[in-house]
Amino acid sequence: MARKRVAVLISGRGSNMVALIEAAKDQSYPAEIALVLSNDPTAQGLSHARSAGIATAVVDHRTFGKDREAFERAMQAEIVARRIDIVCLAGFMRLLTPWFIAQWEGRLLNIHPALLPAFKGLDTHARALAAGAKQHGATVHFVVPEMDSGPIITQGAVAIAAGDTEQTLAARVLTVEHEIYPLALKLVAEDRVRIVDGICWIDGMAMPQGVPASSRS
Ligand code: GRF
Repeated sequence: MARKRVAVLISGRGSNMVALIEAAKDQSYPAEIALVLSNDPTAQGLSHARSAGIATAVVDHRTFGKDREAFERAMQAEIVARRIDIVCLAGFMRLLTPWFIAQWEGRLLNIHPALLPAFKGLDTHARALAAGAKQHGATVHFVVPEMDSGPIITQGAVAIAAGDTEQTLAARVLTVEHEIYPLALKLVAEDRVRIVDGICWIDGMAMPQGVPASSRS
């Protein structure tokens, strides 16, 4: 099977992008990173992508004012020009409209630094600590119009330790992110993931859709 062509959308550091680039260096990995696109020309990840020899594009949302769909149409043009099959959001800090999401239904992935459905939104590590959660982690999911709510492809958990600070917890979760994102992309690129009634089935098995609240604390 031909390797799937992937665009990674970033806004900043790009450490998850690097994890995907590293995984895709293996020729037996079912996806190649064909484009890194940023809405921010100063995103750190862009220079890493360039030095890795990957095509990059910048579509600066600020040039489109409040017209989010015009911004997304410009991104879509870059993505389509590169014949992309799958789009991975990796620290991409713009909310996407239903229009863009519909273009990529079942082919648009995001990574979120929490065990969804717990701690949607921002500041997840601080909120997990403040809530006294016993475990925390990261989730790769398909994107749907409602934020951080799409079908879950895979999750990785870490135990929260007594002395954890936001920084120590964030670092451990990030290590998990770098493992589960390449894994989730591999499953999707191999066409092993089906979405049935909002739930991911992988190789014919339904994925648990989030750690139940009762086992979190
Ligand atoms: C990660 O924690 C990711 O889960 C979240 O944004 C952060 C991006 O980090 N969506 P990086 O740019 O991949 O290093």
